[in-house]
Amino acid sequence: MHPVDTLGRPIRDLRISVTDRCNFRCSYCMPKSVFGQGYRFMDRKELLTFEELERVARTFVALGVEKIRLTGGEPLLRRELERLVERLATIDGLDVTLTTNASLLARKARVLRDAGLGRVNVSLDSLDDPTFRSMNDVDFPVERVLEGIAAASSVGLPVKVNAVVKRGVNDAGVVDMARYFRGTGHTLRFIEYMDVGSTNGWRLDDVVPAAEIVERIDAVFPLEPVEASYRGEVAQRYRYRDGAGEIGVISSVTQPFCGDCTRARISAEGKLYTCLFALRGTDLRALLRSGASDEDLRDAVAGVWTRRTDRYSEIRTERTSELPRIEMSYIGG
Ligand code: GTP
Ligand code: 5AD
Ligand code: SF4
Ligand code: SF4
Repeated sequence: MHPVDTLGRPIRDLRISVTDRCNFRCSYCMPKSVFGQGYRFMDRKELLTFEELERVARTFVALGVEKIRLTGGEPLLRRELERLVERLATIDGLDVTLTTNASLLARKARVLRDAGLGRVNVSLDSLDDPTFRSMNDVDFPVERVLEGIAAASSVGLPVKVNAVVKRGVNDAGVVDMARYFRGTGHTLRFIEYMDVGSTNGWRLDDVVPAAEIVERIDAVFPLEPVEASYRGEVAQRYRYRDGAGEIGVISSVTQPFCGDCTRARISAEGKLYTCLFALRGTDLRALLRSGASDEDLRDAVAGVWTRRTDRYSEIRTERTSELPRIEMSYIGG
């Protein structure tokens, strides 16, 4: 049985946060003022084990999921993540992918590929070293991220690069990034800065609309639109007219895509969320640890999905963006 929600949307994509920790402190995601000393991260025993995660994954696949993305926090901080990848890769017909800041990717690319990882999306907001160091707020050099991308690519993992654009912070580097990644085979995607969580002090003025980004790049490297590659793809795609590859823009603020949103999210402690901006999750860990059968699990998830009404980005206003909500590092970017 493949359930659909109240708006007719199936579940296709499961994003699993494997840890709420990160070694970066990007101001738009885990600002130091909140995630500094004294912040209480989850204990190890609170996290779903790899065995539990495999069970969760199989439950979702039975309900229609075709792609699983491992996220965090920073997923490569979870010890021996490749063992989880190995388990997930045994599930038939599943696309197993990873979203990472690439700080540990140079070291891990080969074992991840060998474990069956299909591809990687790397977060990289600027090529300008001082800007990058200040955005990650832990003085991490851009060079090491580029080494991570090169390592992934050299073992044959397809790489996409995701850049969150914040006005006045890194938007001046948008065309430089396009120039750098053109012709490398890595699709570069620009993400509108979103009001996720309640700690990043988001303001609408900080958002650079995707249309403006496309315009700026098109002025230097002419672009043309490309059809979406699957229903519910978050990025709008464009190709360089000279054949040097593709870019994408993720316009969740100016042109929301909730109508086709087929994504479910699991926090590291096993709560199921049906929207990035949800207030409440469903505790799957309690079910898993109380001896629920596979059928009980499936029924619980299908029940939640069938009742789903989420379309936050379509109803966002300055007012709703002030409501409390969970952090992206918790729910999984
Ligand atoms: P592909 O499978 O490569 O298409 O990846 P993806 O775009 O599904 O995943 P990725 O982790 O690369 O997503 C990029 C960014 O898009 C995220 O970090 C978020 O900023 C944003 N994003 C992804 N999913 C959603 C969503 O459901 N809602 C909103 N508002 N933003 C999302
Ligand atoms: N706006 C948009 N994307 C965000 N991410 C985290 N915080 C935000 C935000 N405020 C996403 C980025 C990053 C991933 C780990 O999470 O895409 O690459
Ligand atoms: Fe870490 Fe990614 Fe959040 Fe930056 S955006 S703090 S790298 S999880
Ligand atoms: Fe999906 Fe919620 Fe994002 Fe809309 S705001 S696309 S419903 S996760």
